[in-house]
Amino acid sequence: MACKFPILCIIIINFYIFSQLGLSQNLESDNSDCKNRWIYIRKLPQNFNLDLLKNCSEYPIYDNFCPHLANHGLGQKTHNNSQSWYRTDPYMLELIFHRRILEYPCLTSDYTSANAIFLPYYAGLDALKYLYGPEQNSSFNHGKELFDFLQEDEPEIWRRNMGHDHFLVMARPAWDFSQPLTIDPPIWGTSFLELPEFFNITCLTLEGRAWPWQEQAIPYPTSFHPHNLNLLDTWLQRVRKSRRTSLMLFAGGGGIANNPNVRRSIRDECENSTINGNSGYNGYEKICEIVDCSNGVCEHDPIRFMKPMLRSRFCLQPPGDTPSRRSTFDGILAGCIPVFFEELSAKRQFGWHLPEDQYGDFSVFIPKEDVVGNGLKIVDVLKSISRAEVRRMRENVMELIPKVVYRRHGSSLGLRSKKDAIDIAVESTIRRIKSRLTEVSVQKVLKTFV
Ligand SMILES: *[C@@H]1O[C@H](CO)[C@@H](O)[C@H](O)[C@H]1NC(C)=O
Ligand SMILES: *[C@@H]1O[C@H](CO)[C@@H](O)[C@H](O)[C@H]1NC(C)=O
Ligand SMILES: *[C@@H]1O[C@H](CO)[C@@H](O)[C@H](O)[C@H]1NC(C)=O
Ligand SMILES: *[C@@H]1O[C@H](CO)[C@@H](O)[C@H](O)[C@H]1NC(C)=O
Ligand SMILES: *[C@@H]1O[C@H](CO)[C@@H](O)[C@H](O)[C@H]1NC(C)=O
Repeated sequence: MACKFPILCIIIINFYIFSQLGLSQNLESDNSDCKNRWIYIRKLPQNFNLDLLKNCSEYPIYDNFCPHLANHGLGQKTHNNSQSWYRTDPYMLELIFHRRILEYPCLTSDYTSANAIFLPYYAGLDALKYLYGPEQNSSFNHGKELFDFLQEDEPEIWRRNMGHDHFLVMARPAWDFSQPLTIDPPIWGTSFLELPEFFNITCLTLEGRAWPWQEQAIPYPTSFHPHNLNLLDTWLQRVRKSRRTSLMLFAGGGGIANNPNVRRSIRDECENSTINGNSGYNGYEKICEIVDCSNGVCEHDPIRFMKPMLRSRFCLQPPGDTPSRRSTFDGILAGCIPVFFEELSAKRQFGWHLPEDQYGDFSVFIPKEDVVGNGLKIVDVLKSISRAEVRRMRENVMELIPKVVYRRHGSSLGLRSKKDAIDIAVESTIRRIKSRLTEVSVQKVLKTFV
């Protein structure tokens, strides 16, 4: 039974082997580079992680996610001979992160010397039974089992810093975990982020709330996972050389309903630019291109949108069900300059990876109110940006590519020397935990004075 799916058996066996190998290797390396950045990986029973993978076909209304588990969560390759491209599902980030952190050069088996404690808990996968399964009405229980375990098994690991040094990955928008405890029965989501038990830990999510406390958003994984420098450089060259024949592109669904919203405005503008002779402007063959991703057809098929993104100058990133979108990162990967319509789409989310004070250098902001309410044309705003400015912005977008890529596990040393999305997330988490601990100890000292 444990091996209903061959992919699963491979993952479970590999995790076991790598977790042993990883630790024994790193213990030997008494690396001075590791000062202040030691990580201890908490040992959790498999029902908190690998066992959850066994239920990959249990949630038919969600999706059968068994195929996405391949290659430690990167998914299946797009083609047999593809080197770097996978059919990656962003919700597998918990698995991807877990596998990658086993390669972190500063792991320690002694929690007392650790600067951060990683919980290899697959929070988003564990949430499925509450979101889509039989336990919908008890979703306020999400996480309680984990908390009990942490209090009962080696409780001193938690108590040392009251959980302030713990972190984990929750590969969904925080919205899925922030159902207020007072709403019964729950409308949507679990209450993991609302439980006081977890207020002290750092949660890495795909999107944060408007006023987050525990969570920090990190990039949605794209489908590109190179494993050496040459593959990354070849891609960057392709992006640089790509001929950009469309002014703007929108890849997504929606915008068909009658009520006014940005997606609808985008569709209207694109359709109009086709009717009015969609060519001949300043060397563009097209003003606007729409990649129809309705019914999830793009989700595991990156070719559908990557090629169009490579030939566009600007990629429109309107909010959807939630403010942020994976497409923002696909677009950056293609060197397509993002156009945002609200600050919650990225600026107030991904500060660790996309520095907040540089948005003007690599993106365009058009407030959605101006488009929907005041008739401002996106096309007009974008046409008014000079070619030189577009070129400069694209260079800045390209600078971001290595930082938002999730390189494949087992990459070459050359590629490991460049910081990718996980390196930056881990480094920033450790910094955040450090300042948290300083705050807590200051508070403790102050208390002794009253
Ligand atoms: C897997 O699904 C079965 C049936 O829904 C359930 O009884 C079991 O607890 C699940 N396992 C995990 C680890 O969630
Ligand atoms: C890809 O590989 C699989 C399994 O190795 C094989 O069954 C399939 O025929 C291959 N497809 C192509 C197009 O080569
Ligand atoms: C949850 O509760 C609602 C209302 O009490 C009920 O209609 C629904 O069937 C319950 N769902 C499950 C999965 O038990
Ligand atoms: C969280 O930290 C505070 C001190 O900052 C502490 O009083 C509280 O008990 C901690 N919560 C848990 C669940 O450990
Ligand atoms: C599209 O064209 C129609 C007809 O010319 C016009 O009424 C409408 O305002 C245009 N919409 C947009 C968004 O440009």
